[in-house]
Amino acid sequence: MSHLLFEMKHHAAMLADKTRLDAYQRALQKAVGPEDCVVDIGTGTGILASYAAKRTKNAVYGIEYFSTAAAIGQKLAQDSGYSNLIIVNNSSYNRPIEAAPDILVTETIGPIAPEENIVELCYEFCRRYPSVKTVIPSTLQLFAQPIYSRQLDGITDNLLGAFLSASHDSYDFNGVKELLLSEFCREPQFTVLDDAHTAGESSLLVEYQLGVDKISDFKSSLFIPTASEANAVHLYFYATLFSEIILTNKFSAAPTHWRHCYVKRPPGAEQLDVSYSNKNKKFHIKWRDKHELARLD
Ligand SMILES: C[S@@+](CC[C@H](N)C(=O)[O-])C[C@H]1O[C@@H](n2cnc3c(N)ncnc32)[C@H](O)[C@@H]1O
Repeated sequence: MSHLLFEMKHHAAMLADKTRLDAYQRALQKAVGPEDCVVDIGTGTGILASYAAKRTKNAVYGIEYFSTAAAIGQKLAQDSGYSNLIIVNNSSYNRPIEAAPDILVTETIGPIAPEENIVELCYEFCRRYPSVKTVIPSTLQLFAQPIYSRQLDGITDNLLGAFLSASHDSYDFNGVKELLLSEFCREPQFTVLDDAHTAGESSLLVEYQLGVDKISDFKSSLFIPTASEANAVHLYFYATLFSEIILTNKFSAAPTHWRHCYVKRPPGAEQLDVSYSNKNKKFHIKWRDKHELARLD
């Protein structure tokens, strides 16, 4: 295990994300009883495990496969005096503990939702530890929402402008402008959406029951009428941590370190096809215009 892989800036951003920490802390306060044995998969510096350790007298295991993060968690656990908090430097796939946990908590939510393996690792752990009764989050949903944001047109124009401004003599990037735009519109982008408004109904792309669903692969579509003012589709997750305690990176909710994900809509596009493959941890985006949709009919 490499010492180089402790991403200090990433951990700093996660620890500074009060929306995230507060939601997990509240959920653990409600879910963990004084006798519960808890496992936190991907414990990092042990923060979520420390919330659980405060609630129970039983053992709380924080499992982290990067040795530097685990070492930091181990030192913190020792110094904090939480004698029931045990940080284990291992992968959750290696049967890392000899115990019968009651609760599994994990914050392995990827930049869009499933890319950090949350579905697969929860399934695999619950299959090998059937004593787990509660998984936090219990469900993870991914939604697509048509939006309009002037700021996003500005970002696109700036990006294209960088290419166009390099044109010289007859070597003119204007000739590949459409190609560049369609490339940009095929990639999920991340920003802080502060001027966006909704421009259509939100649609559920996929819902995962964590600990129950085996794989995160999915395929789904969203239709947007040509006349809609939407210039992008916002992708956001809803993680149900405990009954009414939801963690989300929806643009209209409290900010998080995940920021806001969007896919820019090219002119005339009417349907967005989104698919995800756990094998390469990649989203595949395809826009279709009305001619293409007519051909598919
Ligand atoms: C998004 S970070 C969250 C860290 C910490 N739980 C927090 O909330 O600040 C996810 C962590 O999970 C670890 N991780 C991911 N999959 C894991 C696995 N299967 N076993 C052990 N650690 C894992 C990563 O190394 C990373 O440190």
